[in-house]
Amino acid sequence: MAYLSTDKVEHHFHDVVIVGSGGAGMRCALQLADAGHRVAVVTKVLPTRSHTVAAQGGINASLGNVASDHWHWHMYDTVKGSDYLGDQDAIEYMCRAAPLLVRELEHQGVPFSRLDDGRIYQRPFGGQSREFGEGGQASRTCAAADRTGHAILHSLYQQNLRAGTHFYQEFFALDLITGDDGCQGLMAWDIARGEYHLFQAKAVILATGGAGRVFRVTTNAHICTGDGGALTLAAGLPMEDMEFFQFHPTGIADVGPLITEGVRGEGGYLINANGERFMERYAPTAKDLASRDVVSRAIAQEIREGRGCGPKKDHVLLKLDHLGEELIMSKLPNIHELALRFADVDCTKDPVPVQPTVHYTMGGIPTNRFGEVVYSKGRNKEVVFPGLYAIGEAACVSVHGANRLGGNSLLEIVVFGRACGNQVMKHLREHRYHAQLDVDCWQRGAERVERWLSSARDRREGPSIADVRLRMQTIMQEHFGVYRTEELMAEGVARLESLAGEMDRAVISDGCGLFNTELVEALELENLMALARVTAAGALARRESRGAHARDDYPERDDERWMRHTLATLDSEGVKLGYKPVRTSPMTVESFPPKKRVY
Ligand code: FUM
Repeated sequence: MAYLSTDKVEHHFHDVVIVGSGGAGMRCALQLADAGHRVAVVTKVLPTRSHTVAAQGGINASLGNVASDHWHWHMYDTVKGSDYLGDQDAIEYMCRAAPLLVRELEHQGVPFSRLDDGRIYQRPFGGQSREFGEGGQASRTCAAADRTGHAILHSLYQQNLRAGTHFYQEFFALDLITGDDGCQGLMAWDIARGEYHLFQAKAVILATGGAGRVFRVTTNAHICTGDGGALTLAAGLPMEDMEFFQFHPTGIADVGPLITEGVRGEGGYLINANGERFMERYAPTAKDLASRDVVSRAIAQEIREGRGCGPKKDHVLLKLDHLGEELIMSKLPNIHELALRFADVDCTKDPVPVQPTVHYTMGGIPTNRFGEVVYSKGRNKEVVFPGLYAIGEAACVSVHGANRLGGNSLLEIVVFGRACGNQVMKHLREHRYHAQLDVDCWQRGAERVERWLSSARDRREGPSIADVRLRMQTIMQEHFGVYRTEELMAEGVARLESLAGEMDRAVISDGCGLFNTELVEALELENLMALARVTAAGALARRESRGAHARDDYPERDDERWMRHTLATLDSEGVKLGYKPVRTSPMTVESFPPKKRVY
């Protein structure tokens, strides 16, 4: 028998490898490391730079600290918010677990803002109601001022250091090692030293975050390149519901940084060029606190009808000066800084220019509510891919369906980080030894790097990474925005497929193996391109309007034909689409059947 040659790669053995060091990966790692398992977190950034750090407004839990609340109302709002595409078993699980997980975060050191009596401060967020929509606005979002993600990420990182989690930082994940028994490990590239590393593990968990960088204007950091999703596609597994990218209503105009929904939760509101509070026309009850798809469409509509602000009439204004300097500086200090830096606006005096901006990937790697990656076998039979898990924004469990409620993202990462940790522990009890790997299992990952480095050394002519990336992002922005049509998207798919063909000719100019950021960008672009292609194909095929997928030519939701999840795979022949049913049965309560969504 031939054995794996380790002369070209450094070989590591762990019980579990987690790819990504955001809140989901960190929460899961903590669960496993505290239980005594040998856990590796492989991350392309320094852990506290993971994108969870940018989450602002808060985390939802029906604590009822400010107004009466119940997990069942939270569940109702989430199902309605998802435009009935969310899986109700997973949504029930998340909403029931929320109070426990938020209190646990408090005990782990998260410095939540406080009410006068010392309990956790909660602010209203969009799409929140009491008594199944009959009892008015809820206040469900637990906040650490407007830096909640920052507080959570740092607390979880510190807890992981205590628990003995092994961090491999500035390592880029190149390929999943898979075999007959499922997933057995990961190939990675040490960015600083330019070395290959093979991580052998009994379980691999993808917690790589979203892919907002397929678009040009986004609240997402440059690191949000959907790396886990691309690894999944490369392993022949599908991505789910990628046509649903969330547009946050209030990114800073032109540049994208997030202005939290918490501003509207605290009493801020949107105005158009005529100074009108236009949300009253689109959502008479919830107004500025309608769910994000509704508010984003309203802003886009105002702009389309010529009531946008500024010389290009391409944004609206978010007014918050009336909240007063004291409230702004205590509850929204980060917003004050961002508005100053990126829009040159002092928001204690003037309104902030905002526009709908790509914010969140609602689709992702298909999983069940235990974080196990699933795929379809035959008609309607869903099976688990052994040893492979996905959590957080990288995954599609699916609790957000076609439209996520603000504050449910930080919640999802801790709830399913923990659920996945529990499931992996069961898996580890049944899989005590590492699998025998194929001798050349590392090669496919290494070839990704070698191809780019040789393109630089051979000095071939071809488009640069920055050029191809900008063209891809522009296509996505122009053809798959807030409002979509058949004609617009078909043209977008054609442009994108032609651009994808140019990837073979693209070159990098830096052939050095050490801290080669151009190489990293090339690898990221491969990932982004794969995800853009499945997003575009899924969007073109879905002939209805649901949540964030709004079509002028099919303006209604079509539950009969389209209340189903998209599954997209990608191979050398292109994108292939399949579908699977929405899980409409919750765990213990009655299902919420689809009805018209009004706010
Ligand atoms: O508006 C915000 O603070 C964003 C929160 C979220 O996306 O959950």
